[in-house]
Amino acid sequence: MARNDRQRLIFLGPPGSGKGTQAERLARGFELEIIATGDILREAIRNRTILGEKVRSYVEKGSLVPDELMLELIHQKIDNKSSFILDGFPRTIEQAKGLEQITAIDRVVYFKCAPEIIVKRLSSRRVCPKCARVYNLITNQPSHNEVCDVCKTKLEQRKDDTESVVRERVKVYENVTSPLLEFYRSKLILIDANKDIEIVYQDLWKAIYG
Ligand code: AP5
Repeated sequence: MARNDRQRLIFLGPPGSGKGTQAERLARGFELEIIATGDILREAIRNRTILGEKVRSYVEKGSLVPDELMLELIHQKIDNKSSFILDGFPRTIEQAKGLEQITAIDRVVYFKCAPEIIVKRLSSRRVCPKCARVYNLITNQPSHNEVCDVCKTKLEQRKDDTESVVRERVKVYENVTSPLLEFYRSKLILIDANKDIEIVYQDLWKAIYG
């Protein structure tokens, strides 16, 4: 596939598998917009919008926001865009069926990652509350102690990155989201997300453009 071809991608995988990190890298050099539902919901919660108040308890507990709300949101965000990465959507078969009514999808990238790695990565993740950039205290450190490299804001830990909520999110992924791997079988690209960030990126790039 050429760099300028239309790309409508879904990034699928368990929490902490690196979907957001890789979406950010891939979008940097290409004309791809990232639609990251988790980021959109967290921003709404932070700004105390009507949407934010509706979804707060789901997100903080690690359960899924109802499908109707998510489909309405994604409908507005896609809005005739020709190339994008959907990071974190769809997460249920109902959402995937609803998405088919909104747009066609070219490829679905599955970031496969082992459960013990997930818990370790998420307990050391830190995020910038202002520009949403993601770091890791072990594998992807900011240049200065817990301060965002880009906007110099103090980094924070996500409320849903505590061990008990991470375990709940993994359970939800396994029970409700992983059936999507079968749903998207004909479009699936498998990426081994246990490897280092740079190697995962190279594998991803080759799988899409190589
Ligand atoms: P969301 O924000 O989408 O969370 P998630 O899917 O659980 O994914 P994460 O953001 O935790 O992980 P990631 O795979 O992006 O990993 P990252 O790149 O950050 O959703 C949050 C909540 O919103 C949900 O629980 C739900 O309540 C709600 N929600 C969202 N979408 C919804 C939907 N469609 N329907 C219903 N509800 C919805 O990496 C993790 C860490 O590891 C970072 O610190 C990073 O620096 C590091 N790292 C990344 N890759 C590597 C690597 N290869 N090696 C070492 N470290 C790495």
